[in-house]
Amino acid sequence: MLGTISRRAHPRLGALLGLVILVAGTTVALSGAGATAAGSVTQQPSTISKEPWGTVDGEQVDLYTLTNSNGMEVKITNYGGIIQSIKVPDRDGNFDNVTLGFATLDEYVDHNDPYFGAIIGRYGNRIANGRFTLDGVTYQLAQNNGPNHLHGGVRGFDKRVWTATELEQQGIVGLRLNYTSPDGEEMYPGTLAVEMTYWLTNRNEIRMEYHATTDAPTIVNLTNHAYFNLAGEGTGTIEGHFLRLNASHYTPVDETLIPTGEIAPVAGTPFDFTTPHTIGERIRDNHEQIAFGRGYDHNFVLDRPSPEDTSMINAAQVFEPTTGRALVITTTEPGIQFYSGNFLDGTLVGTSGKFYRQGDGFALETQHYPDSPNKPQFPSTVLRPGEEYETTTIYRFSVRNP
Ligand code: GAL
Repeated sequence: MLGTISRRAHPRLGALLGLVILVAGTTVALSGAGATAAGSVTQQPSTISKEPWGTVDGEQVDLYTLTNSNGMEVKITNYGGIIQSIKVPDRDGNFDNVTLGFATLDEYVDHNDPYFGAIIGRYGNRIANGRFTLDGVTYQLAQNNGPNHLHGGVRGFDKRVWTATELEQQGIVGLRLNYTSPDGEEMYPGTLAVEMTYWLTNRNEIRMEYHATTDAPTIVNLTNHAYFNLAGEGTGTIEGHFLRLNASHYTPVDETLIPTGEIAPVAGTPFDFTTPHTIGERIRDNHEQIAFGRGYDHNFVLDRPSPEDTSMINAAQVFEPTTGRALVITTTEPGIQFYSGNFLDGTLVGTSGKFYRQGDGFALETQHYPDSPNKPQFPSTVLRPGEEYETTTIYRFSVRNP
């Protein structure tokens, strides 16, 4: 995953900006290639603005509102880099917020146990017993999820105040977030300088670019933890959403959700989403892996031409038939954690005032595989001084007919 070539010039974004310039000032369809319906709207300028949202440990926190030329609106806070809201049209042009979250900063600070919308680090997902060995030194991290380490520990990147910079570039707006994680924070070795940039493109994409460097060998696995309900947050179960995953294998887990190390075929199991299935269709199947996850909570191994390949590939497609909303996720990462919101237990009140119950949202976390530091057969998550950690993931929204 690691190389020494800096991709700071963002060649792919450059190509994208070119495309946007071509369509600027015209009337374009809301939806992407292959999509239909939704009509079209008159273009409007992309904008970014911010409002004060509170303070955390004396540090100022703001809520940024990004809009694009189609009227899509995304709200992001520099607390945890959290995507607080994503408003996109349905097939009739009605905008709804399709991501789970809270209405206020205090709620995120007090009880964002599901990690709604946040940037996850330094190591997204689980590390067995919170322990790993790097260059002969064994590190003991917090065991904050049963016996295991989860999502960066007691106070991971999702609970840090990031430095934010508003970006405007050739008709596109973005938000750059920087956080420097000191050597020894959450017991990880090495000072890690992280830069994460969100772009809202005029193709109704949220483009996430992750970049990190270290001054000593360490491990890194960054992701975004947005939950989606394409019918609208707070509208109930996501079991009727159709999901397709570009993954013919997954990593089965033990009862504490640590991969066994096996790369198992999905064929013939409830984990086969190589063709579209609703999330609910097999979620109650009496399968040991479904039992361990209380539903889906598994890393899928994305089909790539070779294990070293880090090109942008289509990882997941989701379609919600009643609204026509669709989501396509592309990524440079080797894996994607599909989590069907199994631990939402009806105790948290979401953004629009509704309780979130089990399965009211799902997450698709692009990532390296869980427990990679203890699984030499998995793609490496080690970052060394002089190397650049670079990954990109895109959430693309559109609408289509059934
Ligand atoms: C997911 C993880 C789940 C659960 C959730 C947060 O990424 O796979 O097991 O911990 O985060 O509630």
